[in-house]
Amino acid sequence: MAYRREDIERVRDATDLVELVSEVTKVKRSGRSVMAVCPFHQEKTASMSIDPARGLYHCFGCEKSGDIFRFVQETQTLDFSDAVELLARRSGITLQRDPDAAKRRDRRQVLVDATAEAVRFYHSGLKTAPDAGNARKYLRGRGYGGELVEQFQMGYSPMPGDALVGHLRGTGVPDDIMVTAGLAIRARTGRVFDRFRGRIMFPIHDVRGDAVGFGARLLDGDGPKYLNSPETPIYHKSQLLYGLNWAKSEIVRGGEAVVVEGYTDVIALHIAKMPIAVATCGTALGEEHLDLLRRFTEKVVLMFDADEAGVGASLRGFERSVPGDLDLRVAALPQNRDPADVVAAGDVAALAKALESSTPLLQFRIERELERFRLDEPEARGRAVRAVAAVVARHPDRVTRHEYAVFVSRRTGVDLDVVVGAVEAAVPRGESGPARSARPSASLTGSEKAELEVLRLLLANDPGVHGVDLTGVFSRADHLAAYELVAPTVAAMEPGEPPDLGSLLGDDDSDAAVMLRGLAFLDAPLPDADEVVRKVQVGALDRRIQELRLVVEAIDADAEPEAYSARFQELIALDRQRRDLWSHD
Ligand code: UTP
Ligand code: MN
Repeated sequence: MAYRREDIERVRDATDLVELVSEVTKVKRSGRSVMAVCPFHQEKTASMSIDPARGLYHCFGCEKSGDIFRFVQETQTLDFSDAVELLARRSGITLQRDPDAAKRRDRRQVLVDATAEAVRFYHSGLKTAPDAGNARKYLRGRGYGGELVEQFQMGYSPMPGDALVGHLRGTGVPDDIMVTAGLAIRARTGRVFDRFRGRIMFPIHDVRGDAVGFGARLLDGDGPKYLNSPETPIYHKSQLLYGLNWAKSEIVRGGEAVVVEGYTDVIALHIAKMPIAVATCGTALGEEHLDLLRRFTEKVVLMFDADEAGVGASLRGFERSVPGDLDLRVAALPQNRDPADVVAAGDVAALAKALESSTPLLQFRIERELERFRLDEPEARGRAVRAVAAVVARHPDRVTRHEYAVFVSRRTGVDLDVVVGAVEAAVPRGESGPARSARPSASLTGSEKAELEVLRLLLANDPGVHGVDLTGVFSRADHLAAYELVAPTVAAMEPGEPPDLGSLLGDDDSDAAVMLRGLAFLDAPLPDADEVVRKVQVGALDRRIQELRLVVEAIDADAEPEAYSARFQELIALDRQRRDLWSHD
C-alpha cells in the first residue's frame, strides 16, 4: 500500500458511499436501511445492502462486498492505489506516500522504468533504424500496419551485442538493474550484453499496464522461435497474461475472456474486433492464470486449433482443480489454424462463430474421447463408455454428472442406466476419509496440492520454509498431522540439511507417516518455496473468508447493526490481507 494509513482513512471519512453507489446504480432508502440494485450481477430487485455509517456494502445475491475503495476498484477496474487517488481527488484530499511502501515501490519502479525504456528503444528502432528493414517487411507481410505496431508497442532488437545496454547506460540505468530486469546478461568475464538480438519484440505488461518483460520472436536465422524474459522480481510467468492490460475493461464489459496460445493470436483477435484475448507467456495455462482472470470474469473460453495434439494434454489437469465458479469453455478452430492464421486468411467470421459455439471444457473432452471409438460395435461402445465415465466422474457435482451421463447415453446409444452406473462406479471413493496415498492426485484442490508441496519442502528442510510457522494454513487434518510430525524436527536442524527419514518416522504407520514417506519418495522437482507458501496462505484466507461470509449473512443487519458491522469489517480486513498477499512485489 503506497499511501499512509491516515490519508486513506481521511479519504474514507470524506466519501459518501451511498452517493458513490447512486452514481452507477439505483439506490432505495427505507428508514435506516439503504438498498441498491447490485451493479455486479443482473437483477431487478435491490439486494445490495449498504451500511452508510461505516461505508460498507454487501450483496446478498452475488456475495460481493467491500468498502468505498473496493467499490470503485470493481466498478472501474482500477487497482487499490488508483482507487484511492481517484477518491482523494474527488474530495480534494492531498495524499502522501508511505515511506516504506514508497521504497518498495521504488525498487519495483526502477525495474519497470528500465523495461519501459527498453520498450521505447526497440520500438523506435523498429520504426526508424536502417537495420530493421527486414523486421518492418516481416510485420507488413503479416498485415500489421502502423496503428497496430503502435498499440502493441512492437519493436525490433538490433543484432549488435550491446546496443540496448549502451542505450540504457546513456539514460543512467545501472548494469545491475538491466541484468535484474532480464534485459541484459552478465557473462562470466563480467561483460554485460543484450539478452535479445535480431528479434521482433512484443512487450509484456502486467495487469496494471506496467512493462515487465518481452516475448521476442526470431526473425531469421537459428534459435528458438520465441525467447521470453526470464523470471525477475517483476516478471512471473505463472502470473502473467499477455494482453490482459489491454483487454481487461472489455472483458468486464462483455463478461468473457478468450485465452489463446500466442502473442500474435492476441493481436489477431484485436484485429478481428474482439479485444478480449490473452495468452500465457511461454508456459502452460495454470491455476494462477485462471485466478487472475477470475478477477474480471467468470467465463473463460480457451480458443485453440482443434487438431492440436497438445490441447487435450494441456487441459487435462483442469476439470477437477477448477472451482465450480468458473465457466471454462473451449472454442475449437478449424483444423491446423490458430487465430492468427484464421484472421490472416480474412476469415474473421470464423472466429466469432467458434466463440459463439464454444462448449464446456468437460463436454469437449468427452466428445474428443468418443471420437476415438467405433460406436457401431458393441465392444467399442463398452470401452467408450468406460473411458468417458472416467472423465465425467471427475466432476464434483452429482447433478452435472448425471446431465453428462444423459449426453453420453444419447451419443453412444448405450442405456442411460448403464452409463450412470459406469460413471458413479468411476467416482473416486473415500475422498473425505484420510488419504493414504501421498501422490498429489488430480482430485485435490490447488491449495491442497500446495499443502503437499509445502510438506515436501519441509522434508527437504528447504531454507525457504525453515522457521516459517505454518500451523494455521492446512485445510485437511491429515496434512496438519503430517506437518506436526515433521516440523519440530526440521526446525531444530540447520536450514538445508534434510532430516533422516528413518529416525524421523521409524516404524510409525500412522496415516501421517505413510503420507510423509510417500511424499519423500516423489521424484518431481521441488517447487519454489515462496510461491507455494503464498499459495497455502491464500488458500487459508479463502477458507476463513468463506466461513465469515456465511456468518455475516446469517446476521439480521437491522436487528443487530453493531454485530453486523463488526463482522463486516472483519470480512473486509481479511479480503484486504488476501489482496496484499497477491500483490506481494
Ligand atoms: P507458436 O509456435 O504457435 O507461435 O507458439 P505463434 O504464436 O503461432 O507465432 P507466429 O504466429 O508463428 O509468430 C505459441 C506460443 O508459444 C510460446 C510463445 O508464447 C508463443 O506465442 N513459444 C513458442 C515459446 O515460448 N517459445 C517457442 O520457442 C515457441
Ligand atoms: Mn501463429
